[in-house]
Amino acid sequence: MSWTYIEDLHRHEGESVTLKGWLYNKRDSKGLFFLILRDGTGLCQCVVNEEQVAPEAWAAAGAATQESALEVDGVVVRDERQVGGYEVQATAVRLLSPADDYPITPKEHGIEFLMNHRHLWLRSRRPWALMRLRNRVVMAIHHFFQERGFLQLDAPILTGNAVEGTTTLFALDYFGEPAYLTQSGQLYGEAMAMAFGRIYTFGPTFRAEKSKTRRHLTEFWMIEPEMAFYDLDMNMDLAEDFIVHIVQDVLQHAREELAVLGRDLAPLERVRKPFPRLTYSEAVDLLRSDATRQMLDERMEALRQEQAALEHERAENRAAYDRAKKWKKRQIDAREIEINQRLEEIEEMLRNLPQWQESARTFTWGDDFGGSDETVLTWHFDRPIIVHRYPAAVKAFYMKRDPEDDRLALGMDVLAPEGYGEIIGGGERATDLAFLEAQVREHGLPREAFEWYFDLRRYGSVPHSGFGLGLERTLTWLAGIKHLRETIPFPRMLGRLTP
Ligand code: 4AD
Ligand code: MG
Repeated sequence: MSWTYIEDLHRHEGESVTLKGWLYNKRDSKGLFFLILRDGTGLCQCVVNEEQVAPEAWAAAGAATQESALEVDGVVVRDERQVGGYEVQATAVRLLSPADDYPITPKEHGIEFLMNHRHLWLRSRRPWALMRLRNRVVMAIHHFFQERGFLQLDAPILTGNAVEGTTTLFALDYFGEPAYLTQSGQLYGEAMAMAFGRIYTFGPTFRAEKSKTRRHLTEFWMIEPEMAFYDLDMNMDLAEDFIVHIVQDVLQHAREELAVLGRDLAPLERVRKPFPRLTYSEAVDLLRSDATRQMLDERMEALRQEQAALEHERAENRAAYDRAKKWKKRQIDAREIEINQRLEEIEEMLRNLPQWQESARTFTWGDDFGGSDETVLTWHFDRPIIVHRYPAAVKAFYMKRDPEDDRLALGMDVLAPEGYGEIIGGGERATDLAFLEAQVREHGLPREAFEWYFDLRRYGSVPHSGFGLGLERTLTWLAGIKHLRETIPFPRMLGRLTP
């Protein structure tokens, strides 16, 4: 290789290397340019000394603007204080391609602006950390299943039938026939589990969600294991091991990414087996309990105290501003931005919490949990929880009924802690042909589209289970960020189809 990647610099201390990348940032001082170069694998400061390089190199360093493409030759020096821990003392700089007026400057930009420039925003530090985390989690998922002997097989994206209800289908014209973008690979996963025992699909899924929330994309990636001869308990055990594996992997291998994101690691370190398991009915009782009312009162009180402390700090900073030195003023300004952001969050929470408290108190058995109910439930626990045995009426047609109580479906959801809510949905599948035929009828689904699925119950029907993990919801939780749109390179949501 004729050049070196920044992440490999530690293997080249004292050597001459060539870096290829883009200018991330630049400072100058008398006779020196400090070029922060970005190559996708990391950042590295390149020091260009006017007295030690040819005039062309000095001119190239001077002409380079943010996101200009550059090649830098130089000697690698260990320097703990620099980003990445290494510095390159340049011997030559070549400007490969200029960049005029790059739109994303180091100042603050609004989220809409950044989303509209997602194709460029991906070059920034925070997307860098999130996309590397995504890659790490994808690898951890494959390892988990491959080590256990699961086959990764793909379900089709173009389908002739609904899986998760008909209200969120993207319809299209398939040579004159109606067709849909898949909502879940599950039904095909079931066929493949009957053929291969244990499989998992890993692919894009589509939901025409008309809700604009921090948990909904219209195109998201789902991982769906499906296992022959597994009952609900075995399914829950697998989901638990799976989540623990992902979290452990990330804690081991994505430290730098989590640090860039400012993620508090303590809640992730608490993710251990066993996860509390509650039936839906127990979860409803907990939601309506005095314990929930009290917990929310305490949260509101803590937020009010934090609010008062931040307002006090802001007032003191402002009072000191005029007398402050220039560097201190800059610090105060930066802190004020942070304080204001946090105050906005607190205000939003204080607006929402009384409503959440009220809807928890009045929740009726039989309803599906909303996002805020899930959030409130998870605040009672320090790790993910599993809620199982939901009312059949709120779950999909293919769920097996609880033999102990026909009103219940053997479904289960895994809810992530810290208020993140559902990341996994799944359950044990119905095995009885007549029951499934009746379900398809009751759900108003076209029987013809499910004939092939019924075959799975005609020829050697066995108990089986599976679940679906939403990749972006999981990443949102792992990264500790607010909105899932930043966890996928090019998000598709209500009102967003470009870039
Ligand atoms: O709970 P869901 O709808 O379950 C299924 O689709 C089952 N067929 C899966 C199975 O048993 N094989 O979706 C599963 C997960 C959710 O828990 C959530 O993490 C994610 O997919 N998800 C979404 N993620 C982003 N945006 C959306 N609109 C999502 N809808 C579901
Ligand atoms: Mg679900």
